[in-house]
Amino acid sequence: MEQRIEQVKTLAGRAVPPGDKSISHRAVILNAIADGTAEISNYLPGDDVMSTITCLQALGVDIEVGPDKLVVHGVGSSGLREAQDILDAHNSGTTMRLLSGLLAAQPFLSTITGDESLRTRPMNRVIEPLRLMGASIWGKSSDGLAPLVIQGSELRGIAYEMPVASAQVKSAILLAALYAQGSTTIIEPVKSRDHTERMLRAMGVALNISGNEVRCLPTSKSLKSMDVTVPGDISAAAYWLVAGAIHPDARVEITSVGMNPTRSGVIDVLKAMGAKIRIENERKEGGEPIADIIIESSELKAIDIDGELIPRLIDEIPVLAMAAAMAKGKTTIRDAGELRVKESDRITSTTTELRKLGAEIEELLDGMVIHGTGKLTGAECDSHGDHRLAMALGVAGLVAAGDTVVYNAEAVNASYPGFWQDLNMLSTR
Ligand code: S3P
Repeated sequence: MEQRIEQVKTLAGRAVPPGDKSISHRAVILNAIADGTAEISNYLPGDDVMSTITCLQALGVDIEVGPDKLVVHGVGSSGLREAQDILDAHNSGTTMRLLSGLLAAQPFLSTITGDESLRTRPMNRVIEPLRLMGASIWGKSSDGLAPLVIQGSELRGIAYEMPVASAQVKSAILLAALYAQGSTTIIEPVKSRDHTERMLRAMGVALNISGNEVRCLPTSKSLKSMDVTVPGDISAAAYWLVAGAIHPDARVEITSVGMNPTRSGVIDVLKAMGAKIRIENERKEGGEPIADIIIESSELKAIDIDGELIPRLIDEIPVLAMAAAMAKGKTTIRDAGELRVKESDRITSTTTELRKLGAEIEELLDGMVIHGTGKLTGAECDSHGDHRLAMALGVAGLVAAGDTVVYNAEAVNASYPGFWQDLNMLSTR
């Protein structure tokens, strides 16, 4: 599907971002292996979370999928059953990596595959620690890629220093650790999102957390099922934050946004760039901080984005690149080599597509340099099948002179199925 976006006169109104993708995956997986029934409201009904749901259903979990809520009938710690067929994570790295950790500890054989993009993404990062725990797990291309074959076995706890900060890898190890003999310690080079840790604790697991280190103590009990109201996804809110900041006549209110500090780097960066952001009604829901955010037209200036900030805004870099193109000065993004192994190589794909819109942008091995000109021109662009790039290009289209066309625009369904409708709803032409 292709989507045409016109430069709009005004951007105004209230956007309600969909439920957080990371938290939706975790709420389903952890409740699937818990004792009891849980309701998950405001879950993200996107393709990625549906992949997790269908995989768990194939593993014998009864999950009722309604328009507004999920009902997960937990099977307890030893209730998963061997699937009759190959599990398919489609485009979802979170599904594949988290389920790998879980399946490594189940007494049966599993095979998990994904779409063309997911089958090129590195899986050795989960295979290596899980093997150290005693898992029998293999992947294609010398254990580097999916499909993965997993013969569940008895696991032992490990102390593991992760070479890259990754919440998916950390969560895979934590899920395996729930079933392992002895305790497991995970040390990250930089702290990544901590939704798994928060939810595990709330469901009764003893975790010691200090800085970038998480220690999971062994438990013989199943998790306690827990109703979850999923906060709005800050990664989805980020599109309206940037759109509001770069558009000359904008005022957008974004409600019930998850404000977890391991995810809120985009707000810190936009504020430092001079964005007029107001945060209101700060509150907590299900162990996660949330708030409403108001953004208004702003004059942005360039900034350097690197180091510890990167995992706190890793998924927002394509849209922040659009902000940088509209800002004054030179923005340098570094230490973001992980972007090369996302749903597309986001360094190359973002650079290629932004250039089509007239931006001055250079590719670095681990980031990009953007010379802000404050001006973009509509062009024909491609999402590269990557939801985050499709939405970032949609935002750019709102301010670019003339019309912008985004090919493969349906990619947004992975994390924000209502994105194009919301973009229209906020726009006055
Ligand atoms: C996610 C973690 C991040 C992020 C992805 C979702 C998660 O990936 O980019 O969109 O839910 O754990 P990495 O763990 O590979 O950094």
